[in-house]
Parts: sequence; structure tokens; C-alpha cells
Amino acid sequence: MKRIFSGVQPTGNLHLGNYLGAIRNFARLQDEYECIYCVVDMHAITVWQEPAELEANTREVTATFLAAGIDPTRHIIFNQSQVPAHAELAWIFNCVARLGWLNRMTQFKEKAGKHRENASAGLYVYPVLMAADIMLYKATHVPVGEDQKQHLELTRDVAQKFNNDFGREVFPIVEPLIFGEATRVMSLRDGTKKMSKSDPSDYSRITMTDGPDEIAQKIRKAKTDPQPLPESVEGFEGRPEAANLITIYASLADMETEAVLAEHGGRQFSEFKAALTDLAVEKMGPVGQEMQRLMSDPGHVDAVLKDGAERADALARPILREVYEAVGFLNAR
Ligand code: TYM
Repeated sequence: MKRIFSGVQPTGNLHLGNYLGAIRNFARLQDEYECIYCVVDMHAITVWQEPAELEANTREVTATFLAAGIDPTRHIIFNQSQVPAHAELAWIFNCVARLGWLNRMTQFKEKAGKHRENASAGLYVYPVLMAADIMLYKATHVPVGEDQKQHLELTRDVAQKFNNDFGREVFPIVEPLIFGEATRVMSLRDGTKKMSKSDPSDYSRITMTDGPDEIAQKIRKAKTDPQPLPESVEGFEGRPEAANLITIYASLADMETEAVLAEHGGRQFSEFKAALTDLAVEKMGPVGQEMQRLMSDPGHVDAVLKDGAERADALARPILREVYEAVGFLNAR
């Protein structure tokens, strides 16, 4: 059986990188895999979230999944906190994962920054919860953007150590699915930085709810360099902004980067930006509108999450039971 699990944090500012690097791929994998897509609210609270915003953002990510075309009747969409087995397996995995492994996680270092002592303990064990998310369903494949690769390696290490320690092949070895042109979308203000939800500048990202005017303005203001567009990928050397805008175009248009360069190479940025704006509005506009429509009907969104959580729970329970038994937790009931 080929089963997918992937998650998105409800931390607001869902952007083009999340869409092109992950969520659009989620929808494209539906015919080939059994899919479980999760709004990871327990991951979100590893940094402070205003409770009312967390609720709204959870609905927003759910609406994005639906607007992207994921079918919640054929697959599962739910929010993590509604299935307690995630926390239960995470505790066991906390006792399997080694501190040395967690100390190597680059995302913790980036997120904790200089104030490491002040970061939550949850932020530190964040990748362990992620391993539990995936292994709770014995998922075999995980579609993600490039930035999650290290966390998936940790997932493999935890699963393998669990199997070794307890002498049973309980967990599969998971494969990342990192594909498409836009596995790492960069900031529109600085082509060397990842596009992220937490960048203080709104102009660094196109969000899922941006309308045509905002999209046009952000692309117009996007950082470039003084030369015309390169004519081949070799010309991206030392020109991260050019590389990023062309990659975004390729991904939105479902074209190879080389084909975009064949069409637009040698042109001025101003001309290319106009074409990119038209394309972005054409592709993102309908998704954004469908999201807005869904968010005006929270009852429907909540019903999708409730139904998904019940079905996820039913899949997770027997696997957690198998884990408890392997560990030696006495079940005297
Ligand atoms: P999160 O919420 O940061 O991001 C959601 C997805 O979007 C991808 N992504 C990007 N892709 C391309 N370019 C970018 N600039 C960009 N920024 C983000 C991410 O790679 C991700 O696929 N730890 C995860 C959530 C998670 C999870 C899981 C994922 C929790 N449990 C289990 C997979 C499996 C995260 O923080 O994603």
C-alpha cells in the first residue's frame, strides 16, 4: 500500500511557496496514493499563537486544501489536535530519538535564533512530533518542500531505531516526494532567503488571499538586477532573484525552466514581470476566491475536519496499540 501523510502549520500568511512546493502537489497525488493531509496545530504552538488566530488559521489551511482540489471524501483532511494518538506516539518517539540528532536540526537553530534559552521545549522536539505524525499511519511517502528534507531524515532514523530497539519491523522507511520546479521558492525581496510566513515584510511573499492588485504590486516591487533575463540556467549564477522569478513562472505555467528561458531569456525584467503577473493572477486567483468562499462557511470546513479526524483516529488506533504492545505497556483493560 502506498500511503501519503503531509502537514501544513496554521500559522497564517500561507504563501506561494507553500502552494507550489507542497499543497498543489498534494492535490496532484490523489489518484496514485491514499492521502492523509493534516493541519498541524500542535506544531504551530511551538511558537506563540493567539488562540483566536490559531482557530481562524486552522480553517484557512483547511480551506486551502479544499480549494486546491483535495477531495475530502476520497482522502482525509483533519487537524492534528483532534487525534490524540499524535501526542501519544510523539512521547514514545521522544524516548527513541537522541539529543545528538535533534542538535543537528538546522530549522531549530534558525527558528530559535540567538535566544535559544528562551525557545519552547516543544520547538526543540518539533521534528519528533513530525516523525510521529507520519509513522502513526505507517505512511510510505511524504510530499514536502525542500526545507523539510532534514526532518524526514530524522523520521527515518527514529523509525529505524524503534524497529531495531524492539526487534520488530513496525514502521516502514519513508520516502520524501520533493518534486516540481518550485521546491524552494525564495523571498521576493531577497533571492537568497526562503519565502516564509514569518518574514516581517509583506512584500517578501505572495499570499493565498492576495487579490490581483496585491499580486501585481508585489511582483512589480520584487527585487531584480540591472541586466536582462539570462538565456540559459548557467546565467542564474550570482543572480538569485532572476532564478527565483523564472522558477516561479515555470512552476505556475507547468513548464520546464529551460522552456521559460527559451521564451523570455534576453528580455527586460519589466516585460517579464508583466507576463508573470498575468500568469500568477490567472493561476492563483481562482484558488484564492474558492478559499474565501469556503472561509465564509466555517460550518462546512469544521464538518470536513471532524469527519477527517474520526477516520484518521480509526486508522491510528490499531497502529498505536501495536506500538504499545511492542514497548511493553501493559494493557490490563
Ligand atoms: P510548513 O507549514 O512550514 O510548510 C508547509 C509546506 O510548505 C513547504 N514550503 C515551501 N516549499 C517551497 N518553497 C518555500 N519557500 C516553502 N516554504 C514552505 C514546506 O516544505 C511544507 O511542505 N514541519 C512542517 C509541517 C509538518 C509536516 C508533518 C510535514 C508537520 N508534520 C509531517 C510533513 C509530514 C512545516 O513546518 O511545514
